[in-house]
Formats: sequence, C-alpha cells, structure tokens
Amino acid sequence: MTDSLQDKAVVVTGAGSGIGRATARAFASAGAQVLAVGRTKERLVETAGDDPRITPYAADITEEPDAVVDAAVGAYGHIDIIVNNAAIIGGGALGEHDRVQVERIFQTNLFAPVFLTQAALPHLSDGGTIVNLSTAIMHGLRAWPGASIYGASKVALEFLTRTWAVELAPRRVRVVGIAPGIIATPVLVNNGVPAEQRAAMRAAAEEFTPLGRIGQPEEIAWWILNACRDEASFATGFVLAVDGGVAVSKGP
Ligand SMILES: NC(=O)c1ccc[n+]([C@@H]2O[C@H](COP(=O)([O-])OP(=O)(O)OC[C@H]3O[C@@H](n4cnc5c(N)ncnc54)[C@H](OP(=O)(O)O)[C@@H]3O)[C@@H](O)[C@H]2O)c1
Repeated sequence: MTDSLQDKAVVVTGAGSGIGRATARAFASAGAQVLAVGRTKERLVETAGDDPRITPYAADITEEPDAVVDAAVGAYGHIDIIVNNAAIIGGGALGEHDRVQVERIFQTNLFAPVFLTQAALPHLSDGGTIVNLSTAIMHGLRAWPGASIYGASKVALEFLTRTWAVELAPRRVRVVGIAPGIIATPVLVNNGVPAEQRAAMRAAAEEFTPLGRIGQPEEIAWWILNACRDEASFATGFVLAVDGGVAVSKGP
C-alpha cells in the first residue's frame, strides 16, 4: 500500500460503533485525520482511544450538517473524504410503520447525507471522494418484505451516488457506494431489536449468505478506505457489494 491517505481530511458519520468505528480507525491507521461524528460522545471517544488523528465530534446529522462541516473545515481547512455511514433501521410491513418512524429513517439515511454533502461542497478538495453506505440485501430490483422503508432509503442513496458522481466529475470529486451484506455490528442492539430476534436473524444470515458467514466491520472499512485512495481515482459512480455473495444469490 502507498501512503496516499496520509494527512487526508476525512469525515465519518456514525463513527461511534460498527462499520463507522472500524472505518475511522482504518483511516487514522493509514495516516488520515478523521472527524468522528455521532450523537453519543462517549462512543466516539472510545472509537478514538488514544489516537490523536481521530477527533470525536458529537452531533445529530439530521439537525446539524453545517456544524459538522464547520468543525471539519475549522480543524483541517478543507475536506477530502466524507463517509456517509450513519443510518438507522426500522422494520415492519407497510401497515406497521408509523409516520414518525418513516420520517426518522428518511431523515437519517437519506436527507442527512444530502445536506451534509451539500454543505461540504465548497470545501471539497480536488480529487476528493464521497462514500455512501448502502446495503446489498435489496440489490437490483429485489423486494425486501418487512424493510421497505429502510430499503427505499438506501435505493435512493444509490441513485444519488450515481447522479452526484456525474455532477461532481468536472471537479474531480468521485462519489461511490459500498453495499455491505450482513455485518457483525451493534446495529440491531442500537435499534432496539430483542436478543432472541437478533439470534434468529444472525442464523438466517449465515444461511442465506453464500459464503456461509456474516462479515466483520473491518472487512467493509477496508473497501471504503481503498475506494478513496488515489490509485482508485478512475472509478466513480459504482456501488460495490461487499456481502459474501448475497447480491448475486437469491437473497433472504
Ligand atoms: N450491519 C449490517 O449488517 C449492515 C448491512 C448493510 C448495510 N449497513 C449499513 O452500514 C452502515 C453502518 O451500519 P452499522 O451496522 O455499523 O450500524 P451501527 O453500529 O448502528 O452504527 C450506526 C451509527 O450511526 C450513528 N447515528 C445514528 N443516527 C445518527 C444521527 N442522527 N446523527 C449522527 N449519528 C447517528 C449511531 O450512533 P449514535 O446513536 O451515538 O448517534 C451509530 O453509531 C449503515 O449505513 C447501514 O445501513 C449495515
């Protein structure tokens, strides 16, 4: 590996756990400076540990996108990489969703990346990269009963990825997507899924994932990191499934 991420200015949302935590640490290990964003300060501090390259910044991305950008620009002068990773899940068939939940999912998973990326536009460096986190489960035209709202938020984010890639190409800013399969993170705990249901969901995931296991957060962080390297600079507008084969199989 080269040192092409050395001193890059990176914003990672949802950096207090799971994929975001692994991503923040991976960028810092590669020599980048990372603004680690999430709502819970203690989790971000834990992510940073004693690594001075990670700066915890507590903020709700649905309410404070400008403040996040100001913090990054204040610390680094510009922004090279944004990882739109923070998201919430919320299951249920159409008749089971309440309006508050639906709005919250779209605000967090879709509107926040829109307004955060928009606020960052004047500060994005030539050759910068935006990484949007999707999911491999609803790949292509596949249905996902019980997760229509969450899935719709990610389908929309993939469309933004492709469209922004073209819009920002003249500025040499790339926009890419990473679509994980089922990954061992606290996402189900964070979103209030009971232990019994979590165990059943994990067993099912091991069953429907062709490689026969779920992934680790570091296995997603690796792809996020490498998609942002200068060596990847001819690739934009793609959404890459990192999923043990879920996207190309029959799915759940
Ligand atoms: N894990 C999987 O199996 C899987 C599969 C496919 C796709 N993904 C995608 O991968 C990404 C990361 O998922 P994960 O599993 O690592 O989830 P996670 O462990 O629950 O992490 C999500 C983080 O987002 C933060 N967050 C939520 N709402 C926020 C808000 N309004 N403002 C700021 N931060 C907020 C949470 O911290 P606070 O509560 O402290 O704010 C949390 O640390 C998501 O986009 C998810 O959709 C995950």
